[in-house]
Amino acid sequence: MRGATGGIILLITLASLSCSRDVGDVDTSRPAEFGFQTNLQTSLVEEGRSAYLRYCTGCHGDSGDGNGKAARFLHPRPRNFVVANFKFSSVRSGQLPSDADLRRTIVNGLKGSAMPPFELLPARTVDALITFIKTFSPKWKERPQVSPIPRVEDPYRRDQAKGIARGNVIYHGYAQCWNCHPAYADEASLNRYRGMVGSAPLTAFRANLDQAVGKPNAEGEVVYPPDFRRDFVRSGADIDSLYRSIAAGITGTAMPTWVDSMEIPGENPGDPPLVETEDLWAMAYYLQDLIKQRPKKFSEEQVVLRDRRHTIVRPGELPTPVTEATEVGTEDFEEAEEFEEEDE
Ligand code: HEC
Ligand code: HEC
Repeated sequence: MRGATGGIILLITLASLSCSRDVGDVDTSRPAEFGFQTNLQTSLVEEGRSAYLRYCTGCHGDSGDGNGKAARFLHPRPRNFVVANFKFSSVRSGQLPSDADLRRTIVNGLKGSAMPPFELLPARTVDALITFIKTFSPKWKERPQVSPIPRVEDPYRRDQAKGIARGNVIYHGYAQCWNCHPAYADEASLNRYRGMVGSAPLTAFRANLDQAVGKPNAEGEVVYPPDFRRDFVRSGADIDSLYRSIAAGITGTAMPTWVDSMEIPGENPGDPPLVETEDLWAMAYYLQDLIKQRPKKFSEEQVVLRDRRHTIVRPGELPTPVTEATEVGTEDFEEAEEFEEEDE
């Protein structure tokens, strides 16, 4: 009896001692001097884990494989952090994104997909989430040093109309973005634009030029590139984001990295270049102009088409035919796209 009481007292004393050591004495807001690097990392991972289980797991899944409970209803599917093909970044397609890229995705969300913006989370929680989702794939440890895509000076800031006109020529005449995205010009104009950048005219064009062409992604799903006059761009419609998406490309999808294909010298020595990296900005302004032309209110049929389940077609599935009765109720469907005001 006595021994038992003594034991209990000893236990209580020990418990209170250890409590006071763990909670009372240690200021966790500041890194301890000793071994603080690893401590900081471990506590970030733990913090990230609990935030992840609270906010992300329903879609991205406990094991990070993109198979959360809600995932089977979602097109596009939530990212698989184990495979780690991150789409939106400031590095060349195929490389892992920077922390700033991940932060942008988490804070802003991805418009037109189920990925919500987590703009109210404290910065430290977002850092913790970033640290944690990197534990799902060994790719992060093996990662070679990568540098962000070059960001040339924007020559069109003060003359956006010039950028839009030039972007139209580059989009249609040089880059042929319409191999996948829709063309917004007729065949005669496409050849005229080709002439302006030193390319020979084409004699044949693909069918349905005004529509996007489905392209398989790395997971074998058929993805439809956005029609900029109808669909959302996911990672931002401000001019910097458009530059980034076009220049960097989109990992794991057909969307190429453009920044390395933008230098075509003039025909004769001394001539100005036919195409230059600055033209990436021109295309960004051109796309933004297309996006701004989107109707503020869509008819039900247009919304159904935009949110069509076959934006992504899973292997073995057929595209769902577009019918009037599908999904969304839309009488007052208002579009709001945020554009950063570019004032200095
Ligand atoms: C309601 C579902 C949902 C929730 C909740 C959700 N996500 Fe996502 N997330 C998605 C979808 C869908 C995508 C894929 C979008 C795409 O492919 O365009 C995605 C993509 C991502 C990407 C990849 C972006 C890229 O470049 O490929 C990251 C990173 C991400 N989510 C982080 C998070 C984090 C962190 C949380 C929790 C704080 C979270 N998500 C919560 C649905 C969700
Ligand atoms: C070989 C096919 C292909 C070509 C060529 C192509 N794209 Fe894409 N693009 C895609 C696909 C596929 C997607 C959608 C990827 C996804 O979200 O899964 C896409 C998406 C985009 C996006 C959306 C980014 C976002 O945030 O959602 C932009 C912007 C874009 N492309 C611009 C361009 C421009 C400009 C060109 C020409 C310079 C171009 N693309 C050429 C296939 C292509």
